[in-house]
Amino acid sequence: MIPSHVTLVDVGPRDGLQNEAQPVAAAHKIELVHRLQAAGCREIEVTSFVSPKWVPQMADNTQVMAGIHREAGVRYSVLTPNMKGLEAALLTQPHEVVVFGAATEAFSRRNINCSVEESIERFAPVVAAAHAAGVKVRGAVSCALGCPYQGAVSADEVERVVVLLKQIGVDHCGVADTIGTGTPRAAQAALARALKHFPVEEVSGHFHDTYGQALSNILACLELGIATFDSSIAGLGGCPYAKGATGNVATEDVVFMLHGMGIDTGLDLDRLVDAGAWISGVLGRAPVSRVSRALLAKRGAAATAAANAAANA
Ligand code: HMG
Ligand code: MG
Repeated sequence: MIPSHVTLVDVGPRDGLQNEAQPVAAAHKIELVHRLQAAGCREIEVTSFVSPKWVPQMADNTQVMAGIHREAGVRYSVLTPNMKGLEAALLTQPHEVVVFGAATEAFSRRNINCSVEESIERFAPVVAAAHAAGVKVRGAVSCALGCPYQGAVSADEVERVVVLLKQIGVDHCGVADTIGTGTPRAAQAALARALKHFPVEEVSGHFHDTYGQALSNILACLELGIATFDSSIAGLGGCPYAKGATGNVATEDVVFMLHGMGIDTGLDLDRLVDAGAWISGVLGRAPVSRVSRALLAKRGAAATAAANAAANA
């Protein structure tokens, strides 16, 4: 049942950077995308076409999309909460757009300023227009394993939104643990509801690692046959409307686990570590990824040993 190949969608440039308080230069965002694709990433969530008043960090969306040197075989996705966002996004030629709903009313209101039902009404023309332009649509269900405002969330609540997204024609369903409180059985229960309505290749997991559960949740979903997960380089990120929630599971950590299990990702771990260390340096901190820290420490130790050997030669 466990897949032999897993696709990771690196959401670092979008989910990772959207929460940064200090402006990150468009040139750095573009460079991050370039480093990710050089490390083998074939799915990159680049930016979001949301209100700049709500998320100022993503205000340079058009500039970033225009600045990327596109590589054949790499798919670039962006968030589009409404028609205004979609119209601007389509001018930048993404391969995929993401409408993002929530399993709870409270989060929907805080994140996109409308009820769940209203969000679906807004998304319906976005899906239709994206399809008319030949662009795939992913529907995300936030707060599927817990909500910062409501608390516990049931699988029934998740399935309700999964069904609504299916009805308006989204192609892919991403189930998101926005605040990272989900544990493996709960993750399986939520993702299983998505599998009732979407084929396994069109279901993905998006796990923030706030409580350190993300790798376990991914393993639990692999047992369901799910083979697509979002992850964020260096573990960057969070959601501005889920205070205290930390980043997505770090890409480096997921890759280390999957490669250790003999599962192919097409990704080059060393180059991912380089990319994660680089963007973390730009942001003035160390990578959150445990694997990255371990490998950087090992490299540092090896470099010191080599320098000592040269000095003693
Ligand atoms: P609103 O204020 O209700 O929108 O915001 P509105 O239609 O009333 O418009 C108000 C103003 O915003 C107008 O400008 C519009 O033109 C402008 P004004 O006339 O006042 O100058 N506006 C826009 N500008 C640019 N792009 C747009 C756009 N839409 C309206 N697309 C809205 C509604 C959805 C826009 C707002 O709530 C919003 O931008 N929310 C985004 C929140 C966000 O980005 N959250 C983080 C991403 S989701 C996430 O991280 C979760 C995820 O990772 C999965 C998980 O972990 O759960 C995906
Ligand atoms: Mg997220």
